[in-house]
This record gives sequence, C-alpha cells and structure tokens, in this order.
Amino acid sequence: MQPSAVWAMKPLPDITAAEFRAWQELLETRSGMVLNEQRRAFLQTTLGKRLRELGLDSYASYYQQVTDGPRGAVEWSHLMDRLTVQETRFFRHPASYEYLAGYLRERLEQLERGRAWQLWSVGCSSGEEAYSLAVVAAEVQREAGLEGRRFGVTGTDLSLSALARAREGRYGARRVGELPAELLERYFLDQSDGSYQVCESLRERVCFARLNVLELERAPQRGMDVIFCQNLLIYFRRWRRREILSRLVERLVPGGLLVIGVGEVADWRHPQLQPVADERVLAFTRKG
Ligand SMILES: C[S@@+](CC[C@H](N)C(=O)[O-])C[C@H]1O[C@@H](n2cnc3c(N)ncnc32)[C@H](O)[C@@H]1O
Repeated sequence: MQPSAVWAMKPLPDITAAEFRAWQELLETRSGMVLNEQRRAFLQTTLGKRLRELGLDSYASYYQQVTDGPRGAVEWSHLMDRLTVQETRFFRHPASYEYLAGYLRERLEQLERGRAWQLWSVGCSSGEEAYSLAVVAAEVQREAGLEGRRFGVTGTDLSLSALARAREGRYGARRVGELPAELLERYFLDQSDGSYQVCESLRERVCFARLNVLELERAPQRGMDVIFCQNLLIYFRRWRRREILSRLVERLVPGGLLVIGVGEVADWRHPQLQPVADERVLAFTRKG
C-alpha cells in the first residue's frame, strides 16, 4: 500500500466491549496471557497499528484473519510479538543467580560421574536469562578447574522474533553494561559497531526453541537439573500458574532446582518439592 493510502484511511472506531472480550479470550486461550481492562487501550493501539499496516478497516476482519487456520497462524505469531512483554536483562534478580551458583557448586561431583548439567530458561525472551545461566554454570566449572564445559542450556519462548535475537546473541553496550567487567571480558567479544557478541564457546552450549508453556506436555525437555521460570507466570491466572509449575516439576531430575520469580506464586506447595532455605529467592528442589 502507498503511504498516502495509509493516511487516507478513516480513523478506526474504539474497540467495542464485545470485541475486547473476544480478543481477551483468544489471547488467553492461545497464550495464557490475561489482558485486563487497564490494557484495553494498549490492545486497541496495537491492533490498530497492525490493521493499518495490512490495509484492513475493522477489528472483526483482522480477528477473522488471525483465526483462519494455518494462514492465520503466521499473522498470530506477528501479533504475539507485539502483545507479549519481552522485557528482560542479564542476571535479572541477582539473588536467584547467586543461589544457583551455590547450588551448582554442591553438584560438581555429578560431573565426575560423566553427567553434564542441563539448564532450562522457560520464557527466555531475547536470551539474556539463558546466557546468564550459561555464564554461571561456566564460572562454577572454571573455578573448580574443570576443562571444557559440561553443561547445556535450553531457552524456550513463544515469540519467534525474541528467539531470533536470542540465537544471534549480540547485545548493545547498555544491555551488557551491568555485567561485572571480568564476566564481560571472559564471555563476550566487543564488536566494531559497539555491540557485544556472546563468545562462541558459550554460545555453542546454548540452544533456543519455540515452545508455548500451555503445551508443555509436548515439550521434549526432560531430566533438567535447573529450571528458571521468572517473569512469565505473572501474566497468567493463578490456577494456570500452578498447572504449569506442576508440569515443570515433572521435567526436573530428583534433586533438581526450580526457580520462580519472587511473588509469582503465593502459598504454592508441591508434594515433590522442598522449598530452599533462602528467603531472597522463590526456589524449590525436587525430592530424591
Ligand atoms: C517478561 S519476559 C521474561 C523474560 C525472562 N524470563 C526474564 O525474567 O527476564 C516474558 C516472556 O515470556 C514469553 N511468553 C509469554 N507467553 C508465553 C507462552 N504462553 N509460552 C512461552 N513463552 C511465553 C514472552 O514472549 C516473553 O519473552
């Protein structure tokens, strides 16, 4: 469409209550995300922008498009990229990573028995969480004088654009600015354009895949030593948070560690889990 045609389009009307409910339901059924009344204006702006890009003139026609079988799936994926909150950073909630380092130090003897650690970042966004896990695992093994890196990290997310950025593993100076200088030097290479690239030896231990947490039963990830699921469940209903967490527990090895964002599930207990004795973090280990 010519730019002039965009400006010529008549303004979109406000989204009606019934339309808003239909979008809310669709979003929640497909992603788990609850879009409350306060985010109505956000939804309207996001949809409106996309409608204009596509040259559509009603929310209803766009709704039909995204719910239209495989063709709609591609458009849905574009829309999800815009509706999901992808904010993240390296070592977000540092206490979780401090706890992780201590936990991994206690599990070094496992490596001597030939078993590599498996770590999983659920809702990894653009990869900062997955690479932070990799840095901690690499550091613990380096401090212990181990040659080679005996761990693998998987990052999963719903958003394809976030996953593409994660795979690239290249971050602006501001994003890596909070990392301690020695970690930046050891695990990142500064590029001529001022950005930083995760070093190859770390990158090759980290892989990324698309996974909707509502479809965990289909996930191949099993036998995990560590699962981080921070700042994802906050957008979901309470019952769904618990259901997802129970599914994640099934993927942990006995003794494995599950770390959740502080305050993301209140009063949650699971018969197979033991809360860790550190009140700065919300984490559990699976009973042996
Ligand atoms: C706020 S980010 C959190 C990133 C990281 N875990 C952190 O703590 O910094 C939430 C991520 O969850 C993803 N997400 C939302 N709904 C999802 C779903 N149903 N399945 C998988 N990922 C989802 C979003 O795409 C986004 O990248």
